[in-house]
Amino acid sequence: MDIHEALYTTRMMRRLRPEPIPLDVQARILDAAVRAPNGGNTQRWHFLAVDDPALKSELAQLFRQGRALEYEKFAAGTGPMVAPAPGADPTRHDETMRRIKGSGDYLADHFEEVPLLLFVFAIDDLGGANIYPAIWSALLAARAEGVGGVMTMVLRNFNDRVNELLGVPVEEGWTMSAMLALGYPRGRWGVAANRRPVQEVSSRNHWGTPFGVDVPQPLWPHDYLAPDLATVG
Ligand SMILES: Cc1cc2nc3c(=O)[nH]c(=O)nc-3n(C[C@H](O)[C@H](O)[C@H](O)COP(=O)(O)O)c2cc1C
Repeated sequence: MDIHEALYTTRMMRRLRPEPIPLDVQARILDAAVRAPNGGNTQRWHFLAVDDPALKSELAQLFRQGRALEYEKFAAGTGPMVAPAPGADPTRHDETMRRIKGSGDYLADHFEEVPLLLFVFAIDDLGGANIYPAIWSALLAARAEGVGGVMTMVLRNFNDRVNELLGVPVEEGWTMSAMLALGYPRGRWGVAANRRPVQEVSSRNHWGTPFGVDVPQPLWPHDYLAPDLATVG
């Protein structure tokens, strides 16, 4: 798959089919993930794949409880999902949240059917900086395999219980950075289009000075900014 197609179409997919992800596919996803940059190449990461139905069922209860807690925070006007970036359109944010809630409800209701839960643990992930490259590589590699999913931190509301269920050696310093719910998506892949354009979120040399080029629409699949090859040389 073309790298730009992967970059532009790796959306969060929350409606997943129950078919298992073959082991060789799982291996390719993780083998790509462990190539990711990480500070000092210390590789203090561990990927714990959960596909046992009994475990998934216990985790599903926790996931639904954790999600309810997150939405309570949201309703009370707290938590990370509440405020859009300064200057962003609050109506669009409301609409985005409505759509996330819709597909998130599906995920919560069908959590037991998700074929693979990939728990990502790290020691001192530097606020996520030391582990998100690997997580994103895993999601991109999954995309190349036709596997979709969503990254969630909801289960961190119950870290102790999750660590106990999964037998995590917490005394060594491991903590859960995120969990990926992975599977073959029910829906179709599309460009992550509901993003504020480059010129609205970038500047040059001084905060607020124009970046210098407008990008009113995604540059994949048609990069209309690229020089016309017919007129070059
Ligand atoms: C740190 C982080 C935490 C996230 N947590 C959740 C989550 O708990 N539940 C969920 O459904 N999506 C979660 N997401 C996915 C975002 O909601 C998603 O990336 C965003 O809405 C944009 O949608 P798109 O990637 O499909 O374009 C998370 C993403 C990140 C980076």
